[in-house]
Amino acid sequence: MKFPVKNELLKRLFAAQGEPVSGQDIADEFGLSRTAIWKYIKELEEEGYEIGSMRKKGYYLIKAPDLVNAANISTYLETERYGRHIHYFSTCPTTQTIAHEEAQGGAADGTLIISEEQTAGKGRLARPWTSNAGRGIWMSLIIRPRLAPQQAPQLTLVAAVAIVRAIEDVAEIQPVIKWPNDILLNGKKVTGILTELQADPDRVKAIILGIGLNANQESEDFPDELQSIATSLKIEKGEHIDRAKLVAKILHYLEHYTALYIEKGFAPIKLLWESYATITGKRITARMVNETVEGTALGISSEGMLELKLDDGTVRGIYSADIEIKN
Ligand code: BTN
Repeated sequence: MKFPVKNELLKRLFAAQGEPVSGQDIADEFGLSRTAIWKYIKELEEEGYEIGSMRKKGYYLIKAPDLVNAANISTYLETERYGRHIHYFSTCPTTQTIAHEEAQGGAADGTLIISEEQTAGKGRLARPWTSNAGRGIWMSLIIRPRLAPQQAPQLTLVAAVAIVRAIEDVAEIQPVIKWPNDILLNGKKVTGILTELQADPDRVKAIILGIGLNANQESEDFPDELQSIATSLKIEKGEHIDRAKLVAKILHYLEHYTALYIEKGFAPIKLLWESYATITGKRITARMVNETVEGTALGISSEGMLELKLDDGTVRGIYSADIEIKN
């Protein structure tokens, strides 16, 4: 973390919930002057935090800006590695590209790239991803698990489980997973995951886990073509979501479930994933690059592939496709 004292100060202001925090105590603890603490307070005010001061008692937080910056995320962070290095942008073309460059430059496991807005957000299958300013969570996490490249798709399923758990905790709402990586509320997409890889033939060097989560959009924030297929937590829940808190929770569950997956394999993740999924037993059309098939979903295989029973009775494992659920 780049500014340990400033972050600690902010963390304590958040934790005190409007009660004063002694600048003198923090100054003593970190061996700084009271003026140094006052300067940090001024910096925080310039960043949009409203902070009051009470004579002899200290500083208190009136209002924090609604940002997914490192300071806000760090106040909620419970992880060991994920999100311990954060690169924050007000705007950027896509966090995926920045994450790829950072990963190539040797960024640590768990480094997070996050932006308030993306001007060229990328979805799966080279589709654009709408990423309006200040409303959603547009993040790319660099992870460096010891895995063979062919195991990487399973991590998308790990991520889906982690995100569902985080949404349940923070928004108290129950999403479902649509294979392989869409998270839905009331049948509309609230989150997409884009997993990209940097790998040698036999080992993963880095996975760039791109997460796009619609948090506080109103329905008019979505373009016409998304109106019937996309939604946000705010639309479904009717309440504003603290995005920084949700990011910290996603990082917590990602770290937890990735560790579980590395330690115990895919079996426990498969069980969790299936408990949140919607497809088993349903009639599915799966559109792949070169063909489209129809069948009944049996579930996912132990490798994370979608298993489809075709009308001729054969079972087909599908690795990557766009699926439409018929019933
Ligand atoms: C999908 O098509 O469902 C995947 C969408 C992934 C969007 C996220 S937003 C953060 C990261 N940066 C991007 O440009 N894409 C991913």
